[in-house]
Amino acid sequence: MATIRGQKHNLCSTTCLILLLPLLLQFYSVTVLVRGRENNAGQSDLQLNYYEQSCPNAEEIIKQEVSKLYDKQANTAVSWVRNLFHDCGVKSCDASLLLETANGIVSEQESNRSFGMRNFEYVRTIKEALEKECPMTVSCADIVALSARDGIAMLGGPRIEMKTGRRDSRESYLTEVETAIPNHNDSMPSVLSTFQSIGIDTEGTVALLGAHSLGRVHCVNLVHRLYPTVDPTLDPDFAKYLKRRCPTPDPDPKVVLYARKDWETPMILDNFYYKHLLEHKGLLLVDQALASDPLTSPFVEKMAADNGYFHDQFSRAILLLSENNPLTGDQGEIRKDCRYVN
Ligand code: HEM
Ligand SMILES: *[C@@H]1O[C@H](CO)[C@@H](O)[C@H](O)[C@H]1NC(C)=O
Ligand SMILES: *[C@@H]1O[C@H](CO)[C@@H](O)[C@H](O)[C@H]1NC(C)=O
Repeated sequence: MATIRGQKHNLCSTTCLILLLPLLLQFYSVTVLVRGRENNAGQSDLQLNYYEQSCPNAEEIIKQEVSKLYDKQANTAVSWVRNLFHDCGVKSCDASLLLETANGIVSEQESNRSFGMRNFEYVRTIKEALEKECPMTVSCADIVALSARDGIAMLGGPRIEMKTGRRDSRESYLTEVETAIPNHNDSMPSVLSTFQSIGIDTEGTVALLGAHSLGRVHCVNLVHRLYPTVDPTLDPDFAKYLKRRCPTPDPDPKVVLYARKDWETPMILDNFYYKHLLEHKGLLLVDQALASDPLTSPFVEKMAADNGYFHDQFSRAILLLSENNPLTGDQGEIRKDCRYVN
């Protein structure tokens, strides 16, 4: 029996191989072609659970640290969301944002577009927990992406499955920050084309700005809508409220004088942001512009009416942003300390 089975098996392996060889070759070339094309897009080597072998607890450790930090200081989670935009939006998701000024590098954090960014010191807490478990294995770029993912979930946003395998830059791109990250008063066509250039459509852009449902804005970014005259597109009662929060036209930018962004639910990622825009209670000019531009306003109305739809679009756009042009394979490095190149 055993021999017959063995013979049968041998017979099949020869015949089958001859039959299957062309198929296998075809499959191989198709795979290579597809991979080649993906490589050009720079997204091929990100994968789900990239650290499964090299650091199986990596994602769990990040989630735990994000959660512990949130319990201590909830606004850390808000910072992780903004970090994702300011890192991935500039050139690539490569943790270039986290580099501090040192050794000939000038930090992207010094750009005016980074105004108000905070909690960078706590990235270290997350990185140190990972270094303890698996030294030099998990990139700072993946910490940026996953901490934002986990922060979004902690803040009542959607749960997002995210790929990993990003590597860290050896450079900082300070001069590119001002073209890649829009200003608070940029026009909507300009904002849309900036996001378009990294593959994010109008609907996705409207959803991403829903992140402004979270956190704070300093008076320096608002006062031009209040003084010398009140922006006529602002709801008058809301303008009065803002003037109480920002009583002078020339606030010292260092003074912590800020208006809560989404005063009803400032720590929840929900569609109140869009409801407020429809009531002319947007904080930044760019926020309010979403509701007045004919290309974006239909999406604002839809998101205001349907939190589930907002969350779906937000997830989709966050994924696009998080996969923008990553360094993979042997590009870049895995930083030991997120603040410095190795
Ligand atoms: C047109 C695009 C955008 C502009 C012009 C913009 C501008 C700003 C400005 C001026 C602030 C207030 C900073 C301060 O005064 O402290 C801010 C805060 C914030 N932005 Fe954006 N932003 C944009 C897109 C995004 C995107 C796509 C995200 C994330 C997906 C995001 C997340 C945040 C968060 C979470 C805060 C609050 C930060 C905190 O409270 O610490 N922003 N943004
Ligand atoms: C950057 O922001 C600071 C404080 O808001 C301001 O004093 C300075 O003029 C700004 N620089 C540029 C280049 O806009
Ligand atoms: C936008 O705001 C900046 C200050 O943040 C100011 O220097 C600039 O002139 C404003 N641009 C427009 C078009 O109003």
